[in-house]
Amino acid sequence: MTKPDLTAALTSPSADATLRLYRDWAASYETGFVAEMQYRLPGHVAAAFVAAGGRGPVLDVGAGTGLLAENLRALGFTDEIDGLDFSPEMLERAAEKRLYHALFRADVTQSLPLTRRYNGVTSSGTFTAGHVGPEAFGPLLAVANPGAQFALSINERVWTAQGFDWVLADLQQQGRIADLQLIEVQVYGEAAQRLDAEHANDHAQVALFRAV
Ligand SMILES: C[S@@+](CC[C@H](N)C(=O)[O-])C[C@H]1O[C@@H](n2cnc3c(N)ncnc32)[C@H](O)[C@@H]1O
Repeated sequence: MTKPDLTAALTSPSADATLRLYRDWAASYETGFVAEMQYRLPGHVAAAFVAAGGRGPVLDVGAGTGLLAENLRALGFTDEIDGLDFSPEMLERAAEKRLYHALFRADVTQSLPLTRRYNGVTSSGTFTAGHVGPEAFGPLLAVANPGAQFALSINERVWTAQGFDWVLADLQQQGRIADLQLIEVQVYGEAAQRLDAEHANDHAQVALFRAV
């Protein structure tokens, strides 16, 4: 079911459709998609965040089943990590791992029911087609402390198509973010070539920047 799931996810027409998709996908997400496609993004984002000197408390956005927290812990990161996702079923899987200090069910495109307390903001796989656009940057900057390190994957399919390049440059010009750096990474491993030629060579930018 890997290809139908991924295609449906990337062409989701609405937030409600995305919620239904993850409701049905949560139980098999890691044993199917993640394992079969050798999904690498959480590892790339975690490595970039740690290498940039990221520290907690961290908010992991679109936390899903908790793979980014798992990768941060595997790198020896011991600071507090909170997770946020709008899918209750994905959050249930994340909770089972007991890696997050707190988990919040919220839509990241709306004002968040959180206080400004984060020194780090991470995200893998959430800024992509059929998911979340640059409108989430406002709500995220509102909960980030000055100097907070961001590490967000942004799929190449939406990088210019949804104006991420323009919005990040504009935020930098306005002095709301600083130290913008991009690292291009491959989303999937070699095994994806045999399973899903349409997505196997997908790339993403890991956008590193600091809140001002
Ligand atoms: C591809 S999964 C990535 C999960 C995890 N970060 C990973 O890398 O495995 C995308 C996640 O974003 C969440 N998501 C999509 N739109 C969202 C929104 N507007 N607000 C919060 N979470 C959202 C989905 O529920 C899903 O768990």
